[in-house]
Amino acid sequence: MTNSIRTVYWENDAVVFIDQRLLPGVETYVISRDYRQVAAAIKDLSIRGAPAIGVAAALGIALGAHYSQAPSLTALKADFEVICTTFSQTRPTARNLFWAIEGMKKCFQEACAAPQAQQGMEIPPNPLLTKGGWGNLHINSYRGQALNFLKQSLITEACRICGEDIAINRKIGAYGEILIADGDNILTHCNAGALATAGYGTALGVVRAAWEAGKRIHVYVDETRPVLQGARLTAWELVREGIPATLITDNMSGFLMKQGKVQKIIVGADRIAANGDAANKIGTYSVAVLAKAHKIPFYVAAPLSTFDGAIKTGKDIPIEERDPAEVTCCQGVVLAPQGIGVYNPAFDVTPHSYISAFVTEKGLIHPPFRKTVPAVLGS
Ligand code: MRU
Repeated sequence: MTNSIRTVYWENDAVVFIDQRLLPGVETYVISRDYRQVAAAIKDLSIRGAPAIGVAAALGIALGAHYSQAPSLTALKADFEVICTTFSQTRPTARNLFWAIEGMKKCFQEACAAPQAQQGMEIPPNPLLTKGGWGNLHINSYRGQALNFLKQSLITEACRICGEDIAINRKIGAYGEILIADGDNILTHCNAGALATAGYGTALGVVRAAWEAGKRIHVYVDETRPVLQGARLTAWELVREGIPATLITDNMSGFLMKQGKVQKIIVGADRIAANGDAANKIGTYSVAVLAKAHKIPFYVAAPLSTFDGAIKTGKDIPIEERDPAEVTCCQGVVLAPQGIGVYNPAFDVTPHSYISAFVTEKGLIHPPFRKTVPAVLGS
C-alpha cells in the first residue's frame, strides 16, 4: 500500500502545502513564495499537527531567506532573525516547531562559518575601485555567491528535515506495529496521520504499518471537537486507504470501552516532558483516564523531536488557547448564544502514569519514564 498524501514540501522555489481547513470537502494545494503566508497557515490550522508544523517552519524559514533582498551578511542575519521570530510566535505547544527553528539556526550559523560564506562577504565597497566599477563588481559577485551559498544551505537543511520526518514515521510504524494484534479495534483521538506530519503519520503510521503487515484491524475515530481533526482528517485518511474505521463523537469512547469494543488506544503528542507527561489534543486526557479504568493499553507515538528534555513535568508545558469561535461555531454554523463565556484550550496533558509506552523512531520507551525518557534523549 502506498501513501501518497504529501502534507508540506518544497518545489520550484516555493513551499507547497495542502490546506487542511478545507478537507475533506476540497483537496487544494497552496503554493507559497511568502514565508509570512506559511506562518499564517500554521496559525490558522491550514498546516497542523506537531511534526508538520516543525517541517513547515523549517521550509518557511528557508523560503524567507531565499527571497530576502538583503545585500550583505549582516542584513541577511537580521532578516533571518525576523523570520525565525515570526515562526516561533505561531503556536506555543508543539515542541517540534521550536526544535525545527533551533535546527535551522544551527544550520545558518554553521553555513556562516564555512569558507564559502566567509569569502568576500563583508568587504565594504572600495571607493578607490569605483572608477569604472570593476572592483566593486568583483566584490559584489563574491558577496552574491556567498549569500547564495547560505540560502542554499538553508533550503538543503529544510528539505532534509522534511524527508527525514517521513523516514522517522516509517520507523515509528515498524516499532509500533508489533503492539497491534490481528483483529484489534484501535481508538485514536485527533489526527496524528500523514496530514499531521510530512507524510505517513505517527499514531496513524502505526495503524498503517499494522494494516500493511496484513493485520485485520479496525479503527474508532474520535471526532475531536472543537476543530474536528478526527472527523475531517483522520476519517479522510482512513477512508482513502480503505482501512476499516468508524467515526464516533468524543463522548462515546467510554461506552465503547465498557462494551469491550476497544483493545488498544494510540495517539500522537505535541510535547512530552522529561518525566513522560504528554500534551496532545484536548480530550486526550479523558481518553487516557477511561483507558486506565478499563485496563486498555494507551500508547503515545511521537518522534524524539516532540520530547522536551528541558521541561521536567507536564505542568510546565505551555498550553495554547484558541479563538472562542471554534467552540461557539462549528464549520460556520453558530451553535451557542452570543454572550456565553467560552474556554478553549487546544491541548491537555496526560500524566505519565496513564501511558503504557511511547513509540519512537528509536523503539518503544517503557515505564518508569522518569528514567527511560532521559536515557533515550541522552540527557
Ligand atoms: O491543533 P492541532 O491539530 O495541531 O493538534 C494536533 C494534535 O494534537 C496531534 O495529535 C499531535 O500534534 C500529534 S501529530 C503527529
